Amino acid sequence: MNYRHAFHAGNFADVFKHAILARILAYLMRKDAPLRYLDTHAGVGRYDLAGDEAMRTGEWRDGIARVMKAERSPEIAALLAPWLKTLGPGDEEGKPESYTGSPALAQAMLRKQDRLTLCELHPVDIEKLRLAMGRDHRMKTLAIDGYIALNAFVPPAERRGLVFVDPPFEAVDEFDRLGKAFASAYAKWPTGVYALWHPVKDAHIVNDFYRGLAEVCDGKLLRLELAVAAPSPDGRLVANGLAIINPPFMLAQEARVLLPWLGKVLANGPGAGVRIEQGPL
Ligand SMILES: C[S@@+](CC[C@H](N)C(=O)[O-])C[C@H]1O[C@@H](n2cnc3c(N)ncnc32)[C@H](O)[C@@H]1O
Repeated sequence: MNYRHAFHAGNFADVFKHAILARILAYLMRKDAPLRYLDTHAGVGRYDLAGDEAMRTGEWRDGIARVMKAERSPEIAALLAPWLKTLGPGDEEGKPESYTGSPALAQAMLRKQDRLTLCELHPVDIEKLRLAMGRDHRMKTLAIDGYIALNAFVPPAERRGLVFVDPPFEAVDEFDRLGKAFASAYAKWPTGVYALWHPVKDAHIVNDFYRGLAEVCDGKLLRLELAVAAPSPDGRLVANGLAIINPPFMLAQEARVLLPWLGKVLANGPGAGVRIEQGPL
């Protein structure tokens, strides 16, 4: 386990995944009934963008800093508001005081009746996560393999909620593992909302992944992708996606507004763009 998210916090991929994550949570909170948020690969929760790791790569400069400084129409501002509220204002460089990872984002947005289950396998990062998240009676933090948790903790007692799966993709078989873990969780809890993050490098691999997902969930699927430049199989990460199973009503429509804007703000070269596809792919 070499991957440390602190080097990448607030980059274009984080911005994309967290903007969508916040839209899903906002939708689920329209009902008063309690919900569960299961984060299988939680990271450390909150990131200091002035810290050594983030400063060494500076990836946040082409991510959250651009978003903070960009012009927003009232429609875009409204769609981003729940997420940006969790970040607070940016400084003159567009750097927030700290960058909220997925656990801190969910912690800030969720209500007293909701519950959070956060899993992180790295022995150092789980302790950092616990420190960053503080005491919160709604929350459990577990030093456990996220794929095992995915199977063990569904369906949650609340019977509604979101499973967010955000693996590091260090292993060559990560797509395979992710697809299989999702299939077995879905068999136990077919009505949950699942958001699965993935890199986009080799289009064939990604297309196969979606074909597998679509088969499992009978096409109840939304495919969202954002590329800041043209991806290539052996190149660095410039494109990524979220596969959303049982997508909330309105999410595709919101994505059609939000993603083209984000795509433009984050673009870094030829090949930048977004993809939004719904249904049996
Ligand atoms: C991309 S980061 C997560 C970022 C976080 N979801 C966010 O949005 O702020 C992936 C995390 O998964 C952790 N990890 C790697 N393999 C894992 C596993 N099998 N189970 C749980 N966590 C794992 C890594 O240590 C890393 O902190």
